[in-house]
Amino acid sequence: MKLDVLTKAKIERLITKAFDARKSSHSPYSTVKVGAAVLTAKGKIYQGCNIENASYGATVCAERVAIWKAVSEDAAVPLDVVCVATSEGEIWPPCGLCRQVMAEFCSPNTWVIAASSKTKFKVYLFAELLPDAFTPKFLKKR
Ligand code: THU
Repeated sequence: MKLDVLTKAKIERLITKAFDARKSSHSPYSTVKVGAAVLTAKGKIYQGCNIENASYGATVCAERVAIWKAVSEDAAVPLDVVCVATSEGEIWPPCGLCRQVMAEFCSPNTWVIAASSKTKFKVYLFAELLPDAFTPKFLKKR
């Protein structure tokens, strides 16, 4: 199993991009600004922020916005790295819905970075965040 090298420079670049994306956050209800950045195998970066809704239920997380932007612009999948950033002091790992969306567009070896600052972050492999994920491969059997 070949794992691409996730350099310190790459991590810092993605965290910076994820923090930048927070500027567009629409979060009047939680007041929490979350940003995300995804890196494709071709080196392209897509950014996203959380977009809340008065219905609450129609709220979408920053990670899903970034992933959907990448997919809607025909980005190379599986994605190489997904990064999520908040300034809440604590590191926020991706929610369950985002993990299921990642299962569709990431590989078990996609890196997932969760950061609360440029120097405070955790790096996971997607397989650690959602073991035994339900992926498109199950539907391809029919
Ligand atoms: N949120 C994200 O954008 N990503 C996460 O990983 C966790 C939660 C957002 C959703 C909502 O707008 C706010 O944070 C509070 O849950």
